[in-house]
Amino acid sequence: MFKLRFLTAGESHGKALTGIIEGIPANLSLTPEYINNQLKRRQKGYGRGGRMKIESDRVEIISGVRWGKTLGSPISLLIKNRDWENWHDGMSVEGSKAGSIAPVTRPRPGHADLAGVIKYNQQDIRNILERSSARETAMRVALGSVARRLLEHFGIRIGGFVTSIGPVRYEINQAMLKEEELTELARRAESSELSVPEGALEEKMREEIDRAKTEGYSLGGTFLVFATGLPVGLGSHIQWDRRLDARIAQAMLGIQAIKGVEIGSGFRMSERPGSEVMDEILPSERGSKLSVSRASNHAGGIEGGMTNGMPLLVRAAMKPIPTQARPLRSIDIQSGEAIEAAYERSDVCAVPAATVIAEAMLALVLCDAFLEKFGGDSIEETETNLKNYTSTYL
Ligand SMILES: Cc1cc2nc3c(=O)[nH]c(=O)nc-3n(C[C@H](O)[C@H](O)[C@H](O)COP(=O)(O)O)c2cc1C
Repeated sequence: MFKLRFLTAGESHGKALTGIIEGIPANLSLTPEYINNQLKRRQKGYGRGGRMKIESDRVEIISGVRWGKTLGSPISLLIKNRDWENWHDGMSVEGSKAGSIAPVTRPRPGHADLAGVIKYNQQDIRNILERSSARETAMRVALGSVARRLLEHFGIRIGGFVTSIGPVRYEINQAMLKEEELTELARRAESSELSVPEGALEEKMREEIDRAKTEGYSLGGTFLVFATGLPVGLGSHIQWDRRLDARIAQAMLGIQAIKGVEIGSGFRMSERPGSEVMDEILPSERGSKLSVSRASNHAGGIEGGMTNGMPLLVRAAMKPIPTQARPLRSIDIQSGEAIEAAYERSDVCAVPAATVIAEAMLALVLCDAFLEKFGGDSIEETETNLKNYTSTYL
């Protein structure tokens, strides 16, 4: 992050999650309701565990906003963990409560459990899993909502939908990747419990999740997140870490269980001749000579690490959830003996939630790149800078 920075804190069964975001200009309208709507989107999804029924996340804005507008100061947020009432002693900060619940000693394959206890010299896996849990992403979605609000102010929209659950795939083609079509697909996905734009496919995905649940295994999947309305030139070709595609990839892989990222046609481009996958440049139909259009969008809206004005397209792959109702082989870290891995209430499939988290992470990266390009300590100053750039260079 170059202009924006943010941090989250909080354990899964601790008192609350907290977060700070700094770098948002003054005078942007922001309400808790706006953030809560995004938090609600993260909690939906067929195949989630019991936790989602307990937690109905609501944010409290602690600082950085006065009378509905940002102040330019750090914005700090709080989300209380409703489950905390069951964990007062088990997650207490007080030493006198030590040992009030049994330690977790059976690491789950695919989780942070084993490497974490070794690295942090712990005897109780709970001291690792409480933070490695994706509960933390609720705060990332809240912070991402602040970034999303800023982008929205400048006509940049972010959306997403699920493209597969386990083996059931929603096939997409170039024609579906235009601004209007993407917006429509995301709108349809919004009313689907699995965030998939096609009803018939959703049914198949549900069946797949039901089967996984009955047989005690978990499922992964893929999703697409996108942004429209981006100005040309966010990110840069001049240094590896300034490339927007690199920054997006890090943000996506920074989400728990995300194991693959693709920009535009990504891996599939590698199998086709160059003549078919470069997006030919067509003369402008609008006033300015450089407001060109493209014959296709295999690049996914980024060339040379910079936005090129086309919709930004990011796909990612989520592995199946590590915790299995029918546990896998593991060891007990106290005795070293072979034993089954621990099972704690868990999701069977969380791809729809991961899509919302990915939207939030994309918003944070784009907001950072937008402010890096256009700067400004107040929204009015940022507006002037953007207007100046587009009227001078486009
Ligand atoms: C939205 C979401 C929900 C998740 N829910 C669970 C869960 O209920 N149980 C679980 O074992 N892992 C869950 N995970 C995945 C783990 O957090 C993740 O696999 C683990 O932290 C290890 O990180 P890694 O898979 O990136 O290596 C979830 C991930 C996301 C993004």
